[in-house]
Amino acid sequence: MIFEPFTIKNVTLKNRILRSSIGGRTSYYDGTVTSAWKNFEKRFAENDVAGIISATITVHDRRWSPLEYPKISNDKFIKPLREGIQAVQKFDCKYIIQIGDAGYQTQTSLFSQETDTKSASSGFDFLFGYRNHIIEMSVEEIEQTIHNFAEAARRVRETGCDGLEITASKGYIIHQFLNPVSNRRTDEYGGSIEKRFRFLQEIVKAVRQSIGSDFLFGIRLSALDYNYLPVNLRLPVVFPIQHYLMGNGLEENIFYAKELEKLGVDYLHISGGFGFINPKENPGDFPIDELRMFANSNRHLSLKANIRAILLNAIPKPILNSILGRGWKFVPGVNAEHARKFKEAVNIPIIANGGFQQRELIEATLREQKCDLVSMARPLLANPDLLKVFKEGKNEPEKPCTFCNRCTVRTVNFPLGCYEPLRFSSQDEMEAEILRWSATTDA
Ligand SMILES: Cc1cc2nc3c(=O)[nH]c(=O)nc-3n(C[C@H](O)[C@H](O)[C@H](O)COP(=O)(O)O)c2cc1C
Repeated sequence: MIFEPFTIKNVTLKNRILRSSIGGRTSYYDGTVTSAWKNFEKRFAENDVAGIISATITVHDRRWSPLEYPKISNDKFIKPLREGIQAVQKFDCKYIIQIGDAGYQTQTSLFSQETDTKSASSGFDFLFGYRNHIIEMSVEEIEQTIHNFAEAARRVRETGCDGLEITASKGYIIHQFLNPVSNRRTDEYGGSIEKRFRFLQEIVKAVRQSIGSDFLFGIRLSALDYNYLPVNLRLPVVFPIQHYLMGNGLEENIFYAKELEKLGVDYLHISGGFGFINPKENPGDFPIDELRMFANSNRHLSLKANIRAILLNAIPKPILNSILGRGWKFVPGVNAEHARKFKEAVNIPIIANGGFQQRELIEATLREQKCDLVSMARPLLANPDLLKVFKEGKNEPEKPCTFCNRCTVRTVNFPLGCYEPLRFSSQDEMEAEILRWSATTDA
């Protein structure tokens, strides 16, 4: 089934595999995409994926997400995006731009700034976000954010791409409104599940008005929030304790899915977890060395960030692994069973994400109708020609992704690429491959 075409709305995908979002330092400091971004995306297109879902491109002008990641918060970003997208589309590869806003889970910035504290409710989160405290958004700030999404959506359409996706997962700002721990508001945007949904509902309505009824529009949703992983260091504690530990369960997220279908959303992209990185979204090893590296590069931004870096450096690795690394292991197709539950609940196409690499697993997942399409990030980063490998009838590539998760953190500071030494015969070979990814001139 992998090579059977599939149509969502008016967009026909030539097979069932999409490249999932891969964010990295592919822009100038102002957020304008570079030719390295274009060449990075092109490499997946020329290797036969049916479509590419972009990195989360921020709708907020001042929230770096992080430095040198692309932005879509101003009209000046449209033209360079359009040029790259046209290069991708030449390979009959569809391009979907994913937009988002990290809210208080903004992990880094040029300077520490108050705007990176904003969320549904005030509080404290030791692991996610760099600022000491989280500050509740006013209704005016909520309305401004909805406006940011609507304006960004208009720009998305103007790039000439094939569709738009909004991330309501990853622990980013929309997810912060959906989640009962980060949203403890008592006004019309919080409290009951219907009220927690209101922010996303208003965004979806405003965005649909911006892009028109004929433009492909999907939402990335977490199947289960799993607030407790890797560990839950959030305040205040919220009751019922199930909410504090787990956030939204399947039932709540399926409620959101049904509401989104009613609002005319065209597809759902299902992952898991509340916050990136997360073993329920990117299952595999716990990248402790990379987390230390990242924490050290941000320690100047706040007292919390500094304490985090000190602890990560001072606590021996085996202890860190047994605490923070709890729950980290590779689970093939980690969200596939959940995707099936969504597929049974709604009548719009479902994309499943997380832990796919083997052809047989993907075939079985599609055949058993757990989803309509599969999206992949790390396995394609390791082997951009994975589709060609499948076409040759092989189950997996010779040097598969090991799901070491080094790329998920290291690439915030360093160029996009695979950083798993086991996949290369030498460090020189790995370096050459990484630099090839970030080539600034057309290959
Ligand atoms: C280097 C890297 C960057 C990523 N950046 C984003 C991003 O910008 N937005 C997003 O929604 N997911 C992002 N992800 C998550 C992936 O899209 C995907 O959900 C996750 O890696 C699990 O899929 P996989 O098992 O196929 O890798 C990123 C993953 C990696 C490895």
